[in-house]
Amino acid sequence: MIREVLRMGDARLLRVARPVEAFDTPELHALLADMRDTMTHLDGAGLAAPQIGVDLRVVIFGCEANPRYPQAAPVPFTVLVNPELTPLGDEEEDDWEGCLSVPGMRGLVPRFARLRYAGFDERGGRIDRVVEGFHARVVQHECDHLDGILYPMRIRDLRLFGFTDVLNIPAVVDE
Ligand code: NI
Repeated sequence: MIREVLRMGDARLLRVARPVEAFDTPELHALLADMRDTMTHLDGAGLAAPQIGVDLRVVIFGCEANPRYPQAAPVPFTVLVNPELTPLGDEEEDDWEGCLSVPGMRGLVPRFARLRYAGFDERGGRIDRVVEGFHARVVQHECDHLDGILYPMRIRDLRLFGFTDVLNIPAVVDE
């Protein structure tokens, strides 16, 4: 079922979400089905449970190669529950981001260039990956949602934040 995505200003986006305690349950599968339906409907590259008002540490992300978003390298569709992120090195990269909770806007956001992420899939299977580039960016953006952080809070120069149809930048996928 397609769910309403909360928009910036809603206090539910600012909560620190709770860990999932039981895997492979009907409730968790239903949540993930709704998240996937919602992300696909809105053509996003990622979605976090708090964005549909669910206070749990659950994110999904993934995107296929899309000529509309040339700098968004393909990322395998991933369900990540109770994630833990570990930056690998200090190197950061700046790139444009958008968010389904901040519709119509874009901002230039620094993120760690490489990181390791670990967590669980919906059945409790262990996930442990080292990634870089756009994949690393999407994971950081989604996991920030679990700690009540929206990408505008990460922008260092707010002159590089504005409306998509005014900014003269390449197309950017919402996360
Ligand atoms: Ni977002």
